[in-house]
Amino acid sequence: MNRDKVFKLERESVEKLAEKYGSPLLVLSLKQIEANYMCLKTYMPRARVFYAIKANPHPDILKTMIKLGSSFDVASDGEIRTLHDMGVEGERLIYANPVKTTGGLQACRECGVSKMTFDSASEIEKIKAICPDATVLLRLRIDNSSAHVDLNKKFGAAREQALSLMLKAKEAGLDIAGIAFHVGSQTVSADPYLHGLDIARELFEEAEAAGLKLRILDIGGGFPIPEPKVRFNLPEMLKQINARLDEDFPGIDVWAEPGRYICGTAVNLITSVIGVNERGGQPWYFLDEGLYGTFSGVIFDQWDFKLISFKEGEERVAATFAGPSCDSLDIMFRGKMTVPLEVGDLLLVPSCGAYTSASATTFNGFGKAQFVVWEDICASLAVAE
Ligand SMILES: Cc1ncc(COP(=O)(O)O)c(C=O)c1O
Repeated sequence: MNRDKVFKLERESVEKLAEKYGSPLLVLSLKQIEANYMCLKTYMPRARVFYAIKANPHPDILKTMIKLGSSFDVASDGEIRTLHDMGVEGERLIYANPVKTTGGLQACRECGVSKMTFDSASEIEKIKAICPDATVLLRLRIDNSSAHVDLNKKFGAAREQALSLMLKAKEAGLDIAGIAFHVGSQTVSADPYLHGLDIARELFEEAEAAGLKLRILDIGGGFPIPEPKVRFNLPEMLKQINARLDEDFPGIDVWAEPGRYICGTAVNLITSVIGVNERGGQPWYFLDEGLYGTFSGVIFDQWDFKLISFKEGEERVAATFAGPSCDSLDIMFRGKMTVPLEVGDLLLVPSCGAYTSASATTFNGFGKAQFVVWEDICASLAVAE
């Protein structure tokens, strides 16, 4: 693998892997996970990274992130207990779901998780009842319509409510320690982060004037991965964010919650054409992986995946790609340009590690795609890493 680029299998490896393991197959590069983590640490050295495990909780990714020293963003009792069972101390977790379940709060108490976010008065009461010693961050709404997935429609307190909510948390006896925001997933410019930092700076000052000493700023996730037709320069983005942090938040603990950026580029899917038809004058290709599997990201993450066929030929056709289930909803792409395909052809889907297998199901009796770790098996395939 060329380390300057993201993890993408060569044709020879795809063929050998499909022959040995069958398809659909997910190939995970732990070196890419490490490279992604190190990139964030290089350009934002002050940021304590809490990997948002919802993006991909594969055990090998978690083990790698544990070894690298990462902390973790969790959103449910299940995620808390998964990490607890792997030996991760509660101190390394933040329960970053602004609306928590009783089970989630009980898991915090049992596993020693005291960091959490909130964005409403009702949440303060819930936290106080079960985790009265919690350290809480006010989750602020940052409008950003340019994000690929705008989380601020569902979460975040309005700027005008922020100070009074922080004061309420203090009155309730909670350790109100700072502010968190999430600019939305796959944000390809520094501007929304800088906008969030501007508002947070004002609120830090207002909080201080009101007698609160805030000490933590959590800039959330949202860091982007390469996608066709979208241009951005991540190191440049991170440098800009880092410079503003140094300018406006000296001495403050900075936290970040990347999900997609850590795992998105670390997984390749190999899938096969299992059926060909022509409907309404267009070719239809049925794959052995569909919307109920890895391509669940088409629905839940609104992601348009790149399909690579390795077939020669100039001719391109607009085709429909459907999954293997007996459900007519199970159609991933319409009008996607491709060379003509046949049953048995292999397709490679690079950069499909985030919000894909994490939301896959076994609907209709189709098993979830098998995972292999690239660095464990590439030697046995006699192909170049
Ligand atoms: C609170 C929180 N933090 C972090 C993340 C990870 O975001 P991303 O994958 O865009 O980095 C999410 C995503 O939903 C989130 O809700």
